[in-house]
Amino acid sequence: MRRGTDLDAAITVLREGGLVAFPTETVYGLGADASSDAAVARIFAAKGRPVDHPLIVHLGPGAPLAGWAAEVPAAAQLLADRFWPGPLTLIVPRGPQVAAAVTGDRDTVGLRVPDHPLARALLGRFGGGVAAPSANRFGGLSPTTADHVVADLGDVVDYVLDGGPCEVGVESTIVDVTSRPPALLRPGGVSREALEAVLGVRLAAPTAASPQVPGSLPSHYAPRARLIAVAPGELAAALRDVGAPHLGVLATASTLAAATLPAGVQRLALPDDLAAAARRLYAALRELDAAGVDVIVAALPDEVGLGAAIADRLRRAAGPRDPGTS
Ligand code: TXA
Ligand code: MG
Repeated sequence: MRRGTDLDAAITVLREGGLVAFPTETVYGLGADASSDAAVARIFAAKGRPVDHPLIVHLGPGAPLAGWAAEVPAAAQLLADRFWPGPLTLIVPRGPQVAAAVTGDRDTVGLRVPDHPLARALLGRFGGGVAAPSANRFGGLSPTTADHVVADLGDVVDYVLDGGPCEVGVESTIVDVTSRPPALLRPGGVSREALEAVLGVRLAAPTAASPQVPGSLPSHYAPRARLIAVAPGELAAALRDVGAPHLGVLATASTLAAATLPAGVQRLALPDDLAAAARRLYAALRELDAAGVDVIVAALPDEVGLGAAIADRLRRAAGPRDPGTS
């Protein structure tokens, strides 16, 4: 593995069918040439990800969508014009340039134009699409620094582009624009409120007919420690009930200040500001893991704006674990 800020080296790796970890404004991605089945197969192998869990295709700013999308629904164009580059993924009918392995042969594909200077430069100069999931082992915590990537996947990535810590810190919002009204498949960096203001309609909830988002499986985005997610007012009681030897608590600074917590609990304070809390979320969970706690009790934020994405990730981290995926 090599690591640095050498775009030429990263592009050479992509052209040769290798794996480049790169920063986006949300989390680091593990990228490969989205038009090459062989290159994309390496992503699934590196992550230990089941091949039927589709990947997002990342494009440079202003890249033509023709070829990547078979059709660009009006709602997709509206959202792309307003939120790209940015933390929004649009599920559209799949175009012919997308290798079948990217989507597990589905007829839809997730497209996103990320907003990070290194990602924009990489994608712009590469010219093609880069298929990329978050650069972590399947089911685990997404990486928000190059150090996280190296710790998780250092042995299997050819080049790690180091762009510093990610600004947003939680993954992109996923909207399925093939259904009417469009459906919110995963809350993320763009809030539901902002999307609905642009569309002028309420986003639907995913239905049985919606494309499946394996990130929505209960066991995902999980630290090593068991996680319990509760309302802020229930923190103290939950900590008393768990009774594990090494307990951690994750909550905003003001929630921690207001709670009477048992002695000996490892505290990790998130900023009260939601954007700052999202930016810190995954690193904070990694720090609690590194501190050796057995159980993390986390306070759920109000589900407005970025709070919806934070609460979603904490609930999924708290979900039942399949030993095969966590
Ligand atoms: O912010 C992000 O979205 C990051 C950065 C690297 O762009 N990427 C990311 O990728 O979170 P990943 O693979 O960890 O999560 C992508 C989610 C998965 O849950 C996948 O199932 C869903 O997007 N997805 C991709 N293509 C889809 C499709 N055609 N239909 C439904 N869901 C899809
Ligand atoms: Mg992921």
